[in-house]
Amino acid sequence: MTTPEIAQKAPFQVDVEAGRSYWWCACGQSKRQPFCDGSHKAGPFVPVEYKPAETGTVWMCGCKRTGNQPLCDGTHNTF
Ligand code: FES
Ligand code: FES
Repeated sequence: MTTPEIAQKAPFQVDVEAGRSYWWCACGQSKRQPFCDGSHKAGPFVPVEYKPAETGTVWMCGCKRTGNQPLCDGTHNTF
């Protein structure tokens, strides 16, 4: 597997707290999207840490093809 699975062709809305660590699933196989649940272990992908500077709402990439991990950059609109 060299390309990640598409978890969904749309971002996940997530409420985040400033300074807290979030581990975004990069492989697309997690059952707790958009976060890593350890399912990546058999493949080449590792989760991406996200530590927001501000508390608020963000849109995390669900298609796993964003150029701005872990946030959605609109790439899912090209499918
Ligand atoms: Fe996808 Fe960990 S389960 S990166
Ligand atoms: Fe992946 Fe938007 S959901 S770029």
